[in-house]
Amino acid sequence: MPAITFYKHEPIPMEMHKVKIVQQLHLLPTAQRLEKMQQAGFNTFQLHNGDIFLDMLTDSGVNAMSDRQQAAMLQADDAYAGSETFFRMQAKLQELFGIENCLPAHQGRACENILATRFVKPGNCVIMNYHFTTAKAHITRLGGRVEELVKKEGLVSHSGLPFKGNIDLDALESCILKETPSNVPFVRLEAGTNLIGGQPISYTNMKAATAICRKYKILTVLDASLLQDNLYFIKTREEGMQGKSVREITRMIADLFDIIYFSARKFGFARGGAILVRDKKLFHSMEDLIPMFEGFLTYGGMSVKEMEAMTVGFEESMDMDVISQGPQFIDYCVKRLDEYGVPVITPGGGLGAHIDVKEFLPHVPQSEYSAGALSCALYICGGIRGMERGTLSEEREPDGTERIASMELLRLAFPRRVFTLSQTEYVIDRVKWLFDHRQLVGGLEFVHEPATLRFFTGVLKPIGDWPEKLAAAYRADFGDEQ
Ligand code: F0G
Repeated sequence: MPAITFYKHEPIPMEMHKVKIVQQLHLLPTAQRLEKMQQAGFNTFQLHNGDIFLDMLTDSGVNAMSDRQQAAMLQADDAYAGSETFFRMQAKLQELFGIENCLPAHQGRACENILATRFVKPGNCVIMNYHFTTAKAHITRLGGRVEELVKKEGLVSHSGLPFKGNIDLDALESCILKETPSNVPFVRLEAGTNLIGGQPISYTNMKAATAICRKYKILTVLDASLLQDNLYFIKTREEGMQGKSVREITRMIADLFDIIYFSARKFGFARGGAILVRDKKLFHSMEDLIPMFEGFLTYGGMSVKEMEAMTVGFEESMDMDVISQGPQFIDYCVKRLDEYGVPVITPGGGLGAHIDVKEFLPHVPQSEYSAGALSCALYICGGIRGMERGTLSEEREPDGTERIASMELLRLAFPRRVFTLSQTEYVIDRVKWLFDHRQLVGGLEFVHEPATLRFFTGVLKPIGDWPEKLAAAYRADFGDEQ
């Protein structure tokens, strides 16, 4: 990564790519955005993309592809069985991770389904640094439980700590002893914790945690979906790592784990997933689940074109110029919001900028889904779609009581190589406006509440007429057209 400095300007992130293909954007007038939000049941997942100005819902499957990825798609080898494309992908993964055995699956949650189906029995406890919604849903579906042991400091929103995704090593060992090793089918470490601000986990912590697991003969699983950001943070923040290449760090991490899985909607900048299994016997014991749930063992439900793009994407993830873009834009956004006094998770992590909604909207209780409400408010005031990562994303307790999330966040994802700095400035500007008008934002309640993963399809309504009042204040400042 060349450190480009400016003659007359504060440092700003510099893209090491240029735009070749664009998609036109439209900004609906405020009154129409209010209407669209009502039609979407105050759930940003239910909006139509054409009604959105800046889609910061996720980085999943919406990263900009490179010219080399697009070119590789043309050489995809279509075959039900034995596609050459699969063998190219497998070889690249073996080169980078040192594991030969590869089970393809159509996306990350499909890998989680396979892993849970193979390993989780009723009453089992899966230990994690932090859960991810779909990883947990598959475990609980099969009667298992999840124990989250991220270090307490990981849940403090403002901090200068570089690795807030680290697992508490003492708690890990005590939990294994309390549960007994035979009741822990695997320990899952998420590199780049999704739900607590994209905060990374250090190599040192992964090494120590996996050593504890080995001592008790417990399988170690790495969720590498957000690995590219985590690699950037290890290289730039971890002591002793600056001199190592991204490729070397990747291999050092991989060598610690028995199983590595990922969503290639994130890692690899395409759309797919895979599970790498070190042990041949274990691999064979999982193989039959792929044709049953995904597709034949050489495509796993993926389009071969996407597999070709993934293979190039894995290689591009070894390049600091490529993997710096996301974290640097996020850092820029987080710092600017912080300067404005907007409560954000610091330091900036991967995936996106995260707003601490408990502090942003102290007058809205979490039981009224304050992060969900703020996501709707930001769409109404600016046409920006973010994602709720808080109480709405939790499942209720078995007795039906609300499970209040430890962090109540609004995530503004930065899909890689998609948004420009002026668009980032617009987002910062509208979030600041909303912060200055935060008293106008109220809560939400369910009209229809699905039993699982309710944030995807739930229908909600505002408590009171706050969206109308908020839209009126916005129109008073910016006029009817924007
Ligand atoms: N693990 C992590 C850490 C993830 O961030 C995701 C997806 C998955 C697993 C599941 O992968 O979507 O391909 O099935 N995260 C997306 C997001 C959905 O928007 O944060 P998937």
